[in-house]
Amino acid sequence: MILVTGGAGFIGSNFVLDWLAQSDEPVVNLDKLTYAGNLENLASLQGDARHVFVQGDLGDRVLVDRLLAQHRPRAVLHFAAESHVDRSIHGPEDFIQTNIVGTFRLLEAVRAYWSALPEPEKTAFRFLHVSTDEVYGTLRQDDPPFAETNAYEPNSPYSASKAASDHLVRAWHHTYGLPVLTTNCSNNYGPYHFPEKLIPLMIVNALADKPLPVYGDGMQVRDWLYVKDHCSAIRRVLEAGRLGETYNVGGWNEKPNLDIVHTVCTLLDELRPKADGSSYKAQITHVPDRPGHDRRYAIDARKIERELGWKPAETFETGIRKTVQWYLDHPEWVQHVQNGSYRDWVHKQYGAVAA
Ligand code: NAD
Ligand code: DAU
Repeated sequence: MILVTGGAGFIGSNFVLDWLAQSDEPVVNLDKLTYAGNLENLASLQGDARHVFVQGDLGDRVLVDRLLAQHRPRAVLHFAAESHVDRSIHGPEDFIQTNIVGTFRLLEAVRAYWSALPEPEKTAFRFLHVSTDEVYGTLRQDDPPFAETNAYEPNSPYSASKAASDHLVRAWHHTYGLPVLTTNCSNNYGPYHFPEKLIPLMIVNALADKPLPVYGDGMQVRDWLYVKDHCSAIRRVLEAGRLGETYNVGGWNEKPNLDIVHTVCTLLDELRPKADGSSYKAQITHVPDRPGHDRRYAIDARKIERELGWKPAETFETGIRKTVQWYLDHPEWVQHVQNGSYRDWVHKQYGAVAA
């Protein structure tokens, strides 16, 4: 089996769902269920013995030691993190605790477990660290996209904490020989994306007749990847990635934020036209910029394509249409997130979750 951290979050839950749709290998899912963790994402796995959910902190050494000893995973996939840049600006403490201290504690627990594994399990074991392109900092308009060889130049408390975790993972490989893999991915979008992030926020605000807040001039550029393509990249790196290597993952979809917001509005105009015939674009409002806002991210994904044969399956056009349709089809999920009742799901569906 595999152990996943953060499997109730946006990318982690998509990963667990995709994993169990393609394989019968069980998943132990360790998640603290912060505001970003939502077990409703995994409702379709209720009663499925292949999914073992454990509510807990990845920094809880006693708990993680026990889970490793009990389930003996062949791999640990580390998704758990504080992930929202704006929250990291308002309150960096949780980012330091989970992303840096938590990753350190997890690495130590995994090292102890891995060191004591007999062969051939020891050689086959993998620790896969899920990271971000934000560790590389920001690009000017004419710079080439981020390659794996770019220097780390993180600019926000979030990206600095992720950069620190990447360095720890690297060091645990070089010093202790822990068999690690790291992926650095661009902006994901898709189902179960928490509506604090750009794309889901625009969709739910548009439908609620609220302003669509665009930071600054809206010309900041991001590379966008459909979340299921990120999941397939992680599966491929786990399967065949070279130990100690990092792999940049991206969609070759660089777009300014304003284009993204216009695309979302155009799709909503088509799929859920307003009664008065006006466009959702009228709700766009420019608001003050994010402090230290990175101007441009772009990913050179040639290494993962060349070495591992991975390519995204979705274009931005197909992925964003599926995403907007998913939000239209799941008003209850949106409502439960907005009224906070998603946080009761764990008690309603699972009773007391054994940690
Ligand atoms: P998310 O915020 O949606 O989910 C994070 C999950 O981690 C939540 O379920 C939360 O409850 C859990 N968690 C937080 N602190 C924890 C702790 N101390 N112990 C155990 N669980 C804890 O994040 P996401 O967008 O799904 O991102 C997942 C990973 O991918 C992160 O490491 C992030 O840095 C990375 N990443 C995200 C993106 C993106 O666009 N969202 C892109 C590249 C990389
Ligand atoms: O690049 C990968 C990263 O992408 C991940 O590591 C992070 O976990 C993830 O949150 C994301 O970070 P961003 O800061 O790029 O994502 P966010 O959705 O917060 O913002 C995307 C862009 O949209 C960014 O330029 C800021 C802008 N924005 C965002 C919000 C929430 C707005 O203009 N208005 C908004 O209301």
